[in-house]
Amino acid sequence: MDDASDIQKLEIRIQPLAPHCGAMISGVDLTRPLSPEQVKIIQQAWDDHLVLVFRGQQVSEDDQLRFASYFGEPGNRKIAPDHLRNRSEGILQNNPKFMLVTNIKVDGRPIGAFGDGDMWFHIDSGYSSRPYKYTFLYGLKLPKTGGNTMFSNTYKAYEALPAELKHKLEGRKALHIHEYKRNERVELAEDISKAPHWYHPVVICHPNTGKKALFVDRLMTRAIAGMEPEESEAVLDQLYEIGERREFIYEHEWQLGDFVMWDNLATIHARTWFPPEEERLLRRCTIEGEEVLG
Ligand SMILES: [Fe+2]
Repeated sequence: MDDASDIQKLEIRIQPLAPHCGAMISGVDLTRPLSPEQVKIIQQAWDDHLVLVFRGQQVSEDDQLRFASYFGEPGNRKIAPDHLRNRSEGILQNNPKFMLVTNIKVDGRPIGAFGDGDMWFHIDSGYSSRPYKYTFLYGLKLPKTGGNTMFSNTYKAYEALPAELKHKLEGRKALHIHEYKRNERVELAEDISKAPHWYHPVVICHPNTGKKALFVDRLMTRAIAGMEPEESEAVLDQLYEIGERREFIYEHEWQLGDFVMWDNLATIHARTWFPPEEERLLRRCTIEGEEVLG
């Protein structure tokens, strides 16, 4: 018997979940190693559908990291500056590769981050010089209602821009700032040097597909460089409206054991509200990205 005996021989099925992103993958057990052929099929499905859902999984931290590693180098959780640390760090976040996305507290102290309520559309670590390429989220504890994750296809958003707006945005960069908030804008009048921030092209070229994607989000993108503030605000509002069009969105209603992975360079994602008295816990890991290019 060689190692190949341990490799799965299941047939992978891909079932689209919405017109423009999201697909359910079945025939894969994430607790076991995958063959290169299986990884290739999943990668292709990922490039095609941007968000993949695996249902009924029992995934340990080791399983999650092993699976993620098929697609790149697992990323470390970003550490916030001291004055924002209490918004991002929890007492049970002991593994630097994981973030616990949760509202659960023990003795009044959060065990993870980004606890309650809704969360605006965003790009994970879009404020950093090298935003994560991919994100993997596993559902461990869920509210009875709400707390859905909405994903929107940003290739589609780019395609939907009026021609003159595409022209206006050519070669432009935008400022992304993170203050570890969930549903309010960063005040530009404040000193942004205290919060993590970076400038990225407004339209990026995806490293896998070569396709153009709109790279802005309501939560963290705060200004378009070189534009007057009023124009920048108006253009960003227009970009958010196009990027969040219902037709581009797949809304994931979580079930226990769901494992969801998304392309963080070709989608934006958001969370719907859920009752604060209900516990929600998801375990996130990521894949490191490169500088994003226009
Ligand atoms: Fe996120």
